Amino acid sequence: GFEVELAQTGRTLTVPEDRSILDVLDEAGVPVMFSCEEGTCGTCETPVLDGVVEHRDSLLTAEEQAANDTMMICVSRCRGPRLVLDL
Ligand code: FES
Repeated sequence: GFEVELAQTGRTLTVPEDRSILDVLDEAGVPVMFSCEEGTCGTCETPVLDGVVEHRDSLLTAEEQAANDTMMICVSRCRGPRLVLDL
């Protein structure tokens, strides 16, 4: 698993291996928008401030993925211990 820090509130949540970031945030009462939950619609796109994203969506181009400044939180994860999201 890894940690997700929400920059706007300073909250930090732990995302276990078997759950998505979206699931963890939604359950914690963080307002998040989503639709497909499969990395194809773009509704859950979230700005990334720090940490390295492991992109698993099928929307972002290779260039956009490499920029590491946005992610689909329904499927993508963290390559490392911690992500900071602009939420
Ligand atoms: Fe559709 Fe995440 S909910 S891409």
